[in-house]
Amino acid sequence: MLLEVRDLRVVFRRRGLPDSVAVDGVDFDVPAGQVVGLVGESGSGRSATAMAVMRQLPRRGVEVTGRVLLDGVDLLTLSEAEMRARRGRDLSMVLHNPRSALNPVIPLGPQLTGALRRHGGMAKAPARRAAVELLDRVGLADPRRGLDAYPHQLTGSARSRALIAVAAAGRPRLLVADEPTTALDVTTQAQILQLLREVVRETGAALLMTTPDLGVVAGTCETVNVLYSGRIVERAQRHRLFGTPRHPYTHGLLGAIPRLDGPPAAALGTIHGTGRDGLPWAGACAFAPRCPRALPRCGEVSPAVDTSGGRLLRCHNPVPASAE
Ligand SMILES: Nc1ncnc2c1ncn2[C@@H]1O[C@H](COP(=O)(O)OP(=O)(O)OP(=O)(O)O)[C@@H](O)[C@H]1O
Ligand SMILES: [Mg+2]
Repeated sequence: MLLEVRDLRVVFRRRGLPDSVAVDGVDFDVPAGQVVGLVGESGSGRSATAMAVMRQLPRRGVEVTGRVLLDGVDLLTLSEAEMRARRGRDLSMVLHNPRSALNPVIPLGPQLTGALRRHGGMAKAPARRAAVELLDRVGLADPRRGLDAYPHQLTGSARSRALIAVAAAGRPRLLVADEPTTALDVTTQAQILQLLREVVRETGAALLMTTPDLGVVAGTCETVNVLYSGRIVERAQRHRLFGTPRHPYTHGLLGAIPRLDGPPAAALGTIHGTGRDGLPWAGACAFAPRCPRALPRCGEVSPAVDTSGGRLLRCHNPVPASAE
């Protein structure tokens, strides 16, 4: 197994305020070369999980526990210097916000060749050739000119493409993308997803992708983890998850998939409230106050994990599989 995340917890400690548990005991795997999705609405812990895997959370005020095993090595135990050496080479992040991820005062070329030389150990001229090839591969119209362009001279779509090129430059075995398509228009979104799939296929990298949108995972991810309030409430292979979703929250997310031919659906159109209305997992199902299928015990007993039938389910009263 390429990546094994075990009992991951991320707690934000804030002076004078109660601790905020962003990730509350998460387990999942990413097999080599596969695309794995982490789906949940705002505040569910997607970014905290992705940043914890990359070891990019600040040290102060954040407690990260559990294990993040990359090829059996627990990244959480590495020194900052060891971790820095691995970022870009073994694992790499496709950043959420292209503006902040690319250095605005350096042309794209040096940023790309820098990554290639650092992580690929390339000399200057081959790195430049490889950079042109990468920009070509990610579909920049004029890759040679792209090298001289500053990030602000690129369109939003080109910037997203360039970012994927930067992340893929060192040929890492794991790419982590936190909401790679949010804020892009539908056409660009489809192109970026296509590009990510191609990069995964061509480089053999695995991809861990977070998104609030089950529609985005539908065509991209082989395995889907549904995250609610810091815990995984359902996980299955894509076809099983979409064919017979069992968790009421997954049903809610499915009801909120925006249609390409109409106005975007309101988030969680079929489920009321927000993640902040939840109960603590320790003594309840956090989703119970919003759940259309809640039973009295959902507010009293934390649901155990059931891994029968080729899926993971954390629910006292799941939707029957035959109801589809
Ligand atoms: N710096 C912080 N201090 C305190 N709490 C935080 C901090 N960052 C995140 N949290 C809390 O942790 C939880 C998970 O945050 P996270 O950033 O992982 O959300 P998310 O799933 O990525 O959603 P979104 O991207 O929409 O914010 C949220 O409830 C959030 O309020
Ligand atoms: Mg986020």
